[in-house]
Amino acid sequence: MPATRPAEPLRPYQRLYVNIDHVATLRQARRGDEPDPVAAALVCEQAGADGITAHLREDRRHVQDDDVARITVTIGTVFNFEMACTAEMLDIAERLRPHQVTLVPERREEITTEGGLDLTRHPAETRAALERLAAAGIRTSLFIDPEPDAVRRSLDLGAAAVELHTGRYAHSSGAPDTLAALARAAEIGAASGLAIHAGHGLTVHNVAPVAGIAAVEELNIGHSIVSRAVFVGLREAVLEIRAAMVAGRAGGS
Ligand code: PXP
Repeated sequence: MPATRPAEPLRPYQRLYVNIDHVATLRQARRGDEPDPVAAALVCEQAGADGITAHLREDRRHVQDDDVARITVTIGTVFNFEMACTAEMLDIAERLRPHQVTLVPERREEITTEGGLDLTRHPAETRAALERLAAAGIRTSLFIDPEPDAVRRSLDLGAAAVELHTGRYAHSSGAPDTLAALARAAEIGAASGLAIHAGHGLTVHNVAPVAGIAAVEELNIGHSIVSRAVFVGLREAVLEIRAAMVAGRAGGS
């Protein structure tokens, strides 16, 4: 009799949300109307994206108010609205009622979101924001570093999900300790009932090990897809990252 392989842990379907911020970055380089991030969102959906992510920054450096308004009413999948926890953004979220809001830290001088939220600061405001969003029927997620303390604080504050910042992993060329930190934070979060998302700096070359973490149910990927689209087109770029995710999920940790 051939030896039976031990049962693999169940890896549920993993969603791909495409972040279209940098389609808007390209448009804003000329302050014109092309390329249109909403048209890009539709191409991503046709290529199989499960959702669209966009970050309306306080300085409006890429995505504009009109973009998020149009995304909300145009796309056929779901909208993950990334925003800072400010009065202005909370008002916009309540008005638009996207499927999901991911709260992110924001500093004007940063090139991109450099770290996760520091949940030791302003916990009352964060809790109140999460309550307000949930009361508006919006699913809530907090963008955090992959640290057990941040995961526990997210749960305590009332988030439905956490998005684990994969920047350290991506920028260290996938150093094993950074992958282990993601897997551990994902495990702790999932065991306590949080939905686990991940993102930042993921590419076709480094996504597989993160896609292979069983508890990670959603990946948010933007810059590498838009970059690759310059050479192969947006549809192909989405198909490529999806294929890398599927391969990682099949053979993951
Ligand atoms: N998730 C969050 C919370 C982010 O802020 C970003 C960057 O805007 C991403 C995911 C996507 O990162 P990248 O563009 O490097 O794929």
